[in-house]
Amino acid sequence: MKDSWQPFDIGPRSLEEVRSLLEQCQGIIWIGPTRYMFSSQCTNGASKLVEMLDELSQRHCNVTVVGKMACNAVMKDSVSVMSYHMIANAAVVWEFLKDRKLPGVMALDRAYPFEINWSTAYRDPVQQLVVDIGSGNGLFLLGMAKRRKDLNFLGLEINQKLVRCCLDTAHQSGIWNGYFIATNATSTFHSIVSSYPGELTLVSIQCPNPDFNNPEHRWRMLQKSLVEAVADLLAPGGQVFVQSDVEDVVWRIEKLFLKYGKGKLTQGVWVEENPFGVRSDWEQHVIDRRDPMYHLLLSKSSSLNDFRMAGV
Ligand SMILES: C[S@@+](CC[C@H](N)C(=O)[O-])C[C@H]1O[C@@H](n2cnc3c(N)ncnc32)[C@H](O)[C@@H]1O
Repeated sequence: MKDSWQPFDIGPRSLEEVRSLLEQCQGIIWIGPTRYMFSSQCTNGASKLVEMLDELSQRHCNVTVVGKMACNAVMKDSVSVMSYHMIANAAVVWEFLKDRKLPGVMALDRAYPFEINWSTAYRDPVQQLVVDIGSGNGLFLLGMAKRRKDLNFLGLEINQKLVRCCLDTAHQSGIWNGYFIATNATSTFHSIVSSYPGELTLVSIQCPNPDFNNPEHRWRMLQKSLVEAVADLLAPGGQVFVQSDVEDVVWRIEKLFLKYGKGKLTQGVWVEENPFGVRSDWEQHVIDRRDPMYHLLLSKSSSLNDFRMAGV
């Protein structure tokens, strides 16, 4: 808070408004005041808020309290302190909410595998696996799943709404070899895919949509940890399919795989067409507006080198 600002406590009307909003929530994050100590005149609103959160947390609402001051308020006034998640260090939470990659969180993601019941995800959970990173509305993955019943398809997509739609579509279309998980694939790819009981034979990264206006976000999705995980988990002879309408994106992704792929991936092969015959949603838009797409296939070296997804 700026030095020139004057803090005011919330009064009964604001508290009522807050209550009517919070009552509709299943999860609440209270990020307390920063750089401001509750003075004796200003604690009433905070105490009332804690009372309200106590009540909501008893009704199975998940409450997380962030920041030293808010944690202190809860410690002072709550009658059910144990039902809160409390994080005194607000700075870390802000960084996380701003989508910064926190090494500790990424390490945890890698260390504690997602618990996925593969037998409920797929009818045959040991078939070879194809993973689409940033699967969007699932057009590519669902189309592929219909064509190749001998393979399982997994979409990792950060947008939960899209994932829900994809799962509904898969269910309604009777697709039993296509599954989607709402996750940040950058940090969780290894946790998720390492527990799969079959072989990982293809990873696709299609139109990862770089934000060229914001250099900080340009390579948000594909980072060293993800490249390493793909290189490690891909079966020998397995492939990485990269496509984009921005040629530079494909070049840069290839560079990242060659730099961080621990020497396991061979130089990419540029292909004229999408070799799978099923287009992704973004690809379809680009083709409809008659712009070019750029496609690249990288392979994991293998002594046998007899498996090829492309062209089958
Ligand atoms: C431009 S869209 C392309 C979607 C699809 N691949 C296609 O070609 O139509 C990029 C997608 O990547 C998803 N995405 C971005 N970062 C991600 C991440 N770290 N983990 C998983 N999905 C991500 C976005 O939510 C978005 O759906």
